Amino acid sequence: MTFVIALPCVDLMDKACVDECPVDCIYEGDRMLYIQPDECTDCGACEPVCPVEAIYYEDDLPTEFSGFTAVNAEFFTTVGSPGSASRIGPIPGDHPYVAALPHKATA
Ligand code: F3S
Ligand code: F3S
Repeated sequence: MTFVIALPCVDLMDKACVDECPVDCIYEGDRMLYIQPDECTDCGACEPVCPVEAIYYEDDLPTEFSGFTAVNAEFFTTVGSPGSASRIGPIPGDHPYVAALPHKATA
């Protein structure tokens, strides 16, 4: 089991969650952040600090966000388990599902 970041993070990327994670497993993509499911220890510290309630325990994901369990996991297909988000920094790109989402209108 793992915690999962879902749609409300896209294009917002508040990053309050990053400072709370004791194992540094919340990684930055271009349009959202992703939790590395093999590194997450289910501590839950990140979940209450997200201002838009983008973070859920995997079993508690609302139905409309159910695809985000795979979105978070598959983001790491290429990079695997880097072991420290702050050490490797932002990872260029996004999961294809996220990359294809329409951008919110600006101005
Ligand atoms: Fe995203 Fe919320 Fe973290 S908006 S970066 S999941 S604090
Ligand atoms: Fe970190 Fe949140 Fe998991 S704080 S260990 S990503 S539950």
